[in-house]
Amino acid sequence: MTTSLIERFRARLPVSETTPVVSLGEGSTPLIRAPRLSERHGVDLWLKLESANPTGSFKDRGMTVAVSKALEEGARAVICASTGNTAASAAAYAARAGIPAVVLQPVGAVALGKLAQARAVGARVLEVRGSFDSALRAARELGRRGKYVLVNSVNPNRVEGQKTVAFEIEDDLGGVPDAVLLPYGGGGNTAAVFRGFDELGSMPRVFPSQSATRTDTVASAIRIADPAHAAEVDEAVGLSDGRVLTVSDEEILHAWSALAHDEGVFCEPSSAAGIAAVEHAELPRGAVVVCIVTGHGLKDPDTASAHAEPTTTVDADPDAIEEAVQ
Ligand code: F0G
Repeated sequence: MTTSLIERFRARLPVSETTPVVSLGEGSTPLIRAPRLSERHGVDLWLKLESANPTGSFKDRGMTVAVSKALEEGARAVICASTGNTAASAAAYAARAGIPAVVLQPVGAVALGKLAQARAVGARVLEVRGSFDSALRAARELGRRGKYVLVNSVNPNRVEGQKTVAFEIEDDLGGVPDAVLLPYGGGGNTAAVFRGFDELGSMPRVFPSQSATRTDTVASAIRIADPAHAAEVDEAVGLSDGRVLTVSDEEILHAWSALAHDEGVFCEPSSAAGIAAVEHAELPRGAVVVCIVTGHGLKDPDTASAHAEPTTTVDADPDAIEEAVQ
């Protein structure tokens, strides 16, 4: 049977023997080498496929801990604001725990797959007029009122769970890489990665990569004006000798396409932000670099369809097919 993230890292997480473990078999995701991207960028580039988590994003690492702790503390329901992935994850883990989830999403701004996921597992999905930032303010206030446990990454149990990605990277590489690059939305994941390596006592350079157009980027997952963890991100890059990097939508889509075409890895656009930033990080030749691929391509089929080659319709005739593929 697959080991849950909480079982695998129990000693380093804020759980006890009596914490009820709410798991979908998260974590232990693949770390694969990217030979073509390595060659292109002159580094030894690895991809941590967080898209392989049960709901298709890294959020599941934090959510298993947040929902397990919420249940332990007697929560009757959970709430979050989300650009889609936190919602899909919170909804799934709440269903697993047998408690309701209320998810607040900016209206019209959540990718199709994520919206479908949250609805499919029975969350109460509310589309909030306004931005992610205003939805988060409302969710925080509702958390304070006490009826719901807030499971955004401002809940410290989320960051605790997400830090485990660092432990896995170190395990799989047999050491800490020279640099880690990852998308930067609210910054919870950057704070978590930093904490994980800090606990290991060995720190790679951390490069969070944000969109140049935070409020209207094609990368809808990181469409966040006011990052909740900005101060921790600044501290993490300062202490790790990294830097916050900024990439354009064009660079994100280019990296997204290169990852798919050259390595066979289909991620959502936001998840390509770290790869897009590799050329801005000024890394020494041969440096061991891990890019965290945060979410699956199936999350955002509309953007994928809009930016991939069109299909061709043919008769089921071998000659016509040969001609069509010329
Ligand atoms: N990548 C993906 C696929 C995400 O969904 C997010 C954040 C990030 C990167 C950025 O991570 O916020 O910790 O810096 N998604 C949140 C959500 C905002 O609601 O699903 P961060």
